[in-house]
Amino acid sequence: MTKKFSLLSASVMAVAAILASAPIGAEEVKPDVAVEYVEGGRAFTKDDIPTYFIAEDGTVDWPVFSGFRRYHAECHVCHGPDGEGSTYAPALKESALAMDYYDFIEVIASGRQKVGASENSVMPAFGTNKNVMCFVDDIYVYLKARGMDAIARGRPAKKVDKPDELRAEEEECMSG
Ligand code: HEC
Repeated sequence: MTKKFSLLSASVMAVAAILASAPIGAEEVKPDVAVEYVEGGRAFTKDDIPTYFIAEDGTVDWPVFSGFRRYHAECHVCHGPDGEGSTYAPALKESALAMDYYDFIEVIASGRQKVGASENSVMPAFGTNKNVMCFVDDIYVYLKARGMDAIARGRPAKKVDKPDELRAEEEECMSG
């Protein structure tokens, strides 16, 4: 009896192991952008990482719209319009998917320069620039949406009204 039971559980475990290691279809595993919950006017993944929310009719949430504006005010001169990249700086719509969220934010705050790179290939540090740092999560989710092709190039046509929570958050950050 005991033996039968353990044999059975061993084979159940073997099947479970095969299922767990089996690739899902032939597709590459997509970065995690799925909305798990919405809090304070922002969408988050199950790992508490900011993500975008876009309604079926294409209406973008406030952070995506804000990110579009902030990106084009502060980043696009080097990184190209719509996160597409330039000959000078990488395509951030791809970086936002490839890089860990915390690393992404760290590069924005602290800047970066490749060892040996010429002086004109520098990512400036924005850590003390409120027009960037108060909106880094917006810029991040905007670029993530671009990387996933969830929004087209250009200004999003439809957006939700600015949520009160985000208005308050912005005022606090900009005056703090
Ligand atoms: C003056 C030009 C310039 C501006 C403005 C600029 N960047 Fe950069 N950025 C660069 C360069 C050049 C690199 C590549 C640096 C390297 O790897 O040495 C870079 C790299 C990065 C990276 C790392 C990307 C990767 O795939 O490794 C991130 C993230 C980034 N920038 C975000 C931003 C954001 C967000 C803004 C706007 C708030 C911004 N940058 C504005 C020039 C700029």
